[in-house]
Amino acid sequence: MNYSTPILTIRNVSVYYSKYGNTIKALDNCSTRDLRSGEWLFLKGPNGAGKSTLFKAITRTVNISSGSIELNGKNIHKLSNRELFQKIFLISQNPDTSTVGELTVEENLVFSSPRLSHTSIKNAIEYSQLSNHRHHLAKNLSGGQRQLLALQIARLRKTKLLLLDEPFAALDPANEKKGLELVEQLNMDGVTIFFITHDDDLIAKKQHSGSELFTILNGKII
Ligand SMILES: Nc1ncnc2c1ncn2[C@@H]1O[C@H](COP(=O)(O)OP(=O)(O)OP(=O)(O)O)[C@@H](O)[C@H]1O
Ligand SMILES: [Mg+2]
Repeated sequence: MNYSTPILTIRNVSVYYSKYGNTIKALDNCSTRDLRSGEWLFLKGPNGAGKSTLFKAITRTVNISSGSIELNGKNIHKLSNRELFQKIFLISQNPDTSTVGELTVEENLVFSSPRLSHTSIKNAIEYSQLSNHRHHLAKNLSGGQRQLLALQIARLRKTKLLLLDEPFAALDPANEKKGLELVEQLNMDGVTIFFITHDDDLIAKKQHSGSELFTILNGKII
């Protein structure tokens, strides 16, 4: 059993949106198991269940109306933008969340973290098979290439907590496999993984080694 301070604690979180004058309860008193360093946690649920909203609450993109979210034992609302940016990285289906379309592949990597060596940038480009696209704008990459770039940015930044919101849903099987290998590699290097996915094989494999799956329905964790 790992008794260290959890990386992520989610307690009784509720989030409301207003839409066409109506109020929608997107998250209703949600809590999950604490997530500790190096662990995997999975979240599943139908469209509109509230999965992405939970990640938006963790990254402070939406306000929570009650409950609390702590990162390393500290309420996320007490963290500076810089601290939050250094610790958490979100990769969603929308590549603009994690890469800058108007920058080249190389620039995306160079700006991911200060003082990176030439070799680490070169390795990141080679590993994601983007050598021929080094000077191309990220917005001109395919969806799969851009997600592999995003994973390299997470690696170079030495992200502590990686939030994956169905990042490989639109990828072909070869790129999905490559993406998953990179996630496994990041985890082996100590990154904690919170994964929204419908990949039952992956979930079953990780549940075998102690990971947990949460299901969310109509904003409630069931
Ligand atoms: N910006 C917004 N304004 C108003 N309502 C929103 C907003 N974003 C999401 N919602 C609503 O909140 C609910 C939860 O949405 P959310 O995007 O979290 O679902 P999801 O589980 O990620 O779905 P999907 O599987 O389609 O990605 C839905 O009813 C959605 O319509
Ligand atoms: Mg979503």
